[in-house]
Amino acid sequence: MKATAQAPANIAFIKYWGRRDNVLRLPANNSLSVNLSSLVTTTTVEFLSEAGEDEVTLDGQAASPKAAARIQAFLDVVRQRAEFSGRAVVSSENSFPHGVGLASSASGFAALTLAATQALGLPLTEKELSQLARLGSGSACRSIPDGFVEWQTAASNEESYAISLYPPDYWEIVDVIAIVDQTEKSLSSSEGHEAAPHSPFYQARLEKFLPEQYAKILRALDERDFSAFGTVMEEEAINFHAIIMTAQPSVLYWNGATMNILHQVRAWRRAGLEAYFTIDAGPNVHVFCEKKNQPELVRQLSAVPGVEDLMVATPAPGARLITE
Ligand code: PMV
Repeated sequence: MKATAQAPANIAFIKYWGRRDNVLRLPANNSLSVNLSSLVTTTTVEFLSEAGEDEVTLDGQAASPKAAARIQAFLDVVRQRAEFSGRAVVSSENSFPHGVGLASSASGFAALTLAATQALGLPLTEKELSQLARLGSGSACRSIPDGFVEWQTAASNEESYAISLYPPDYWEIVDVIAIVDQTEKSLSSSEGHEAAPHSPFYQARLEKFLPEQYAKILRALDERDFSAFGTVMEEEAINFHAIIMTAQPSVLYWNGATMNILHQVRAWRRAGLEAYFTIDAGPNVHVFCEKKNQPELVRQLSAVPGVEDLMVATPAPGARLITE
């Protein structure tokens, strides 16, 4: 009745932003991501036969009522499938700060899905685990499979899940994450998904921009063409933030240090250091380079004003059980 699982956060090259169904968390568009080796959540779930409230500890502290309610609601789905009614004791540790747009909900719900189903003896396939994780947090479905991952939009719960396109060792690229702010996000991603369609640019993103970019990035991945890959990733990050800035409500996630990095990355490229950025729903910047350029990129990024910390991640496997 007890199990521990570990799952990575992921960063999307093509972002999921906006949903066709808010309850089932069915995305409005396909998305593509890679799992991140050093951003990991480890979660232990134990089910007790007694009824009562679940007990949830996140990074050594009792979860906020909002976070605990979301986890309890997710565990209710798992309990229903297993026809079990006891309460759960959940303890979760992140290797990185949570709530700052570093996708702790993705790694968190992926690890929770695997640990909770294992603890209740539910034998699920990777596809079923991905579908289930999606109900906790959409992007969590991409933290179940290995390496480079695609999540397709679909009209039903059964058809929307993520699959691995390439294993982690397919391509030696490196994500150097510049932390410029460690405070909590000003808008939850659920609120962001609902705000997105109010941007006057949203339909153009869905109908024209994303289909074109998607085809280009799949080709770049297939050919391991870093320049083409980085160009699409960066254009997509800007399009995604333009939607956020022009939605209702409008959110400005970038701070001054974010902007410093964006200008620097382009200046480094002009000077021959090939690096490209993407930014999730927050101010921190993911800068990608090929492995050979990692030391130079780390050196340059650490000198940018406003950069508080750097994390280095490489493509990683998906969710795993930890045997004690
Ligand atoms: O999984 P959610 O609902 O937290 O959505 C997060 C979506 C982004 O991280 C902003 C983009 C993505 O595709 O990961």
